[in-house]
Amino acid sequence: MRRPVSVAPPKGKLGVLTPGMGAVSTTFMAGVELVRRGHAVPVGSLTQLGTIRLGKRTDGRTPQIKDFVQLAKLDDIVFGGWDVFSDDAYQAAAKAGVLEAKDLAKAEKFLKGIKPMKAVFDQNYVKNLHGTHVKKGKTKFDLAEQLREDIRTFKKKNKLDRLVMVWCGSTEVFLKPEDVHKSLASFEKGMKANHPAIAPSMLYAYAAISEGVPFANGAPNLTVDIPALEEYAKAKNVAIGGKDFKTGQTLLKTVLAPAFKARMLGLNGWFSTNILGNRDGEVLDDPGSFKTKEESKLGALEYILQPALYPDLYGKIHHKVRINYYPPRGDNKEGWDNIDIFGWLGYPMQIKVDFLCRDSILAAPIVLDLALFFDLAQRAGMRGIQEWLSFYFKSPMCAKELYPEHDLFIQLMKLKNTLRWMMGEDLITHLGSEYYD
Ligand SMILES: NC(=O)c1ccc[n+]([C@@H]2O[C@H](COP(=O)([O-])OP(=O)(O)OC[C@H]3O[C@@H](n4cnc5c(N)ncnc54)[C@H](O)[C@@H]3O)[C@@H](O)[C@H]2O)c1
Repeated sequence: MRRPVSVAPPKGKLGVLTPGMGAVSTTFMAGVELVRRGHAVPVGSLTQLGTIRLGKRTDGRTPQIKDFVQLAKLDDIVFGGWDVFSDDAYQAAAKAGVLEAKDLAKAEKFLKGIKPMKAVFDQNYVKNLHGTHVKKGKTKFDLAEQLREDIRTFKKKNKLDRLVMVWCGSTEVFLKPEDVHKSLASFEKGMKANHPAIAPSMLYAYAAISEGVPFANGAPNLTVDIPALEEYAKAKNVAIGGKDFKTGQTLLKTVLAPAFKARMLGLNGWFSTNILGNRDGEVLDDPGSFKTKEESKLGALEYILQPALYPDLYGKIHHKVRINYYPPRGDNKEGWDNIDIFGWLGYPMQIKVDFLCRDSILAAPIVLDLALFFDLAQRAGMRGIQEWLSFYFKSPMCAKELYPEHDLFIQLMKLKNTLRWMMGEDLITHLGSEYYD
């Protein structure tokens, strides 16, 4: 990828479209509105609170990221979305039960104005969801055309300059890449023939790319992670990325595992289990959707610990991930990790992590950051997979010949160095030998 010659300034309004207006999406929308009105601080958002060091440590240049790269302003964001239920964002947020009534009340009028468009949905891909607010079409291609029309209408109606799409819909059943995903030609033929390996989320991604709208995938579904859509994104000069927001348990896993590896401590096993009771938990109770999530959650350790390079330390790891649907907890997930490590002379030790987290509270700022960074990438003319945004994903997409980078700190360094590179600043290597001349 070449360095952007210039980055177009964020003029006008930015539309943020989310397929899926459930817990994560509505917590994101409500939160941005509360921040805009001065009721809250955007905690958890790197784009809003983060800074970036430029030049030497002695230079004292540490601007805010949002000023350094000129991100779109929160006031310029307009929200839209699709869902299989017709509830407006206020009703959906109230049902999701993430935010307290007193917070929701402050954004009630605003959220009531965000009404979902009819979804492209097929229950064969999300077994535990029964929606009725759904489009009709003879073929998958027709349905994608309807989504394109939605995008154009939304843009015109709201007088938007640019759009981005972030998938916040349910996790679909596990799909493997097949021949139909191999090229744009086979994919388009497959859409017209209603090929079963083309899931609804792929139609949203196809529609977004067709309309020149960057697409980020917050769920572990295959979606845009197929050669056909990568080829299409490159041809249309559109930024794409995914998969699966890195929020709770995997965030900690990608912090702890690099620490063990840094100190050459061994690992025998890592058992991760969760209880959660929101709709996401209900959807993941179906083995097909769980399999998609499990694959996404299992990858991180293998790539971070590199057992082929360190067989004595990581050659025999028992890694298990469980998600249990347990309604009393709602969105307040509890994630336990039991980690069996070993040290000098092979002596065993254990670490227990009990993370009482709030799923959508962790995910909402990620949706915001992805929307703003994907808009930036698009304005900078960066097309195809945006690997520098791996920081936000459990299962980061990357070029075919690469393995994904999961270590949170390498991901952050990559993200910040990409911003420096885009703006023509020196990259920071942390060598620092010049301070001791
Ligand atoms: N919250 C987290 O920490 C977190 C982390 C990583 C990934 N995710 C993923 O983000 C997604 C959203 O999570 P959530 O907690 O908001 O779930 P949710 O069930 O509250 O919301 C998902 C919404 O998507 C809708 N939907 C499903 N299929 C659709 C389609 N084809 N078109 C339009 N709408 C559709 C559902 O009706 C629902 O309202 C899930 O896939 C989840 O696995 C969440």
